[in-house]
Amino acid sequence: MKQMTPPMGWNSWNTFAADIDEQLIRETADKLVETGLADCGYNYLVIDDCWSLRERDENGKLVADPAKFPNGMKAVADYVHSKGLKFGMYSCAGTLTCAGYPGSYDHEFDDAATFAEWGVDFLKYDYCFHTAQMKGSTLYRKMGLALANCGRDIMLSACSWGADETHEWIRGTGSNMWRSTGDIFDSWESIVGIVNQQEKIFPYGGAGCFNDMDMLVVGMHGKGNVGLSGCSDVQYRTHFSVWALFGSPLMIGCDIRNMDEETKKILTNKDIIAINQDPACRQVIQLDIFSYSHLRAYARMLDNGDIAIGVFNFEADGKELQVDLHIDQLGLAEHTGKTLEMHNLWTGEVTTVKNATMRTVIPAHDCLMYRCKVVDIK
Ligand code: GLA
Repeated sequence: MKQMTPPMGWNSWNTFAADIDEQLIRETADKLVETGLADCGYNYLVIDDCWSLRERDENGKLVADPAKFPNGMKAVADYVHSKGLKFGMYSCAGTLTCAGYPGSYDHEFDDAATFAEWGVDFLKYDYCFHTAQMKGSTLYRKMGLALANCGRDIMLSACSWGADETHEWIRGTGSNMWRSTGDIFDSWESIVGIVNQQEKIFPYGGAGCFNDMDMLVVGMHGKGNVGLSGCSDVQYRTHFSVWALFGSPLMIGCDIRNMDEETKKILTNKDIIAINQDPACRQVIQLDIFSYSHLRAYARMLDNGDIAIGVFNFEADGKELQVDLHIDQLGLAEHTGKTLEMHNLWTGEVTTVKNATMRTVIPAHDCLMYRCKVVDIK
């Protein structure tokens, strides 16, 4: 049975790239549990690119680099499983991975068998060096079929960056999530750039196959492989909130062994995570506010009848902005006798909407995340 809500976990790429080994994976597994992240739902520990030798063995099998993983991958998987976590790995639909290690092209069934033998539960599958002879849809379907027939339940995480109209064919490949954009970097511009590419693909995300906005940069503070200028805590909070509201998988990318308190607070906000993991997995809608193009509001109807609303200030030059949100867009005109009781999920504050309009001010690069109850107008 496939997971029906967005996968959550940790992935090695954003911080560590090729600098990975068994020790790092063990320590990260320990920390996922000790810090309470696993209890919040972050249960997939995924090793990204650069884990193998540059050549397959004489039988054509992938080989874990013995300098990085001296006890082999099965031992790593066993350790991860012993912590109650699931184990993820990485390969590529092309002849080579993006970092130049062997890809799974024409080895799909054998590699799926290898991953199953090692105890892998999740496969991130990249799109570098793919042949022009075979379509992306065929390449992903091939690995989808290989995994579905390998004797182990392995989730497929497609990573074709939205190329070749991925959204049109990805659901048919057996993938459980699909990367909708190029790679994230640890900067405010990168975050906003990814958000700007989501609206047109809202209808394609949902239960069973989620639009993946890429791994989180929360808490990286400019350190590591994709670390650029880094972001402020406010920006990281906004980043986390949009990813959660849009129903993206939530894969942590910072070094959780040295996480600061603010990072932990952001990543473990259970109310925000509950929005992301809402069992109905409904489509996000964009709400009209007014002319500022960088002030955005989005909503999502939740399984129990509540509504999640997020308002985001993406203004580049960092101005505070006033928001007037008319809730009749949600079907709550005053004549219905209903209004919204809004629970701010970062501050805990509760307010009730008057005159069908929610008016507030939103600081630079900040966000407001609410879980709203539909209540009678008093
Ligand atoms: C691509 C992917 C990244 C990462 C790297 C590894 O760029 O989009 O997420 O997996 O490859 O080389």
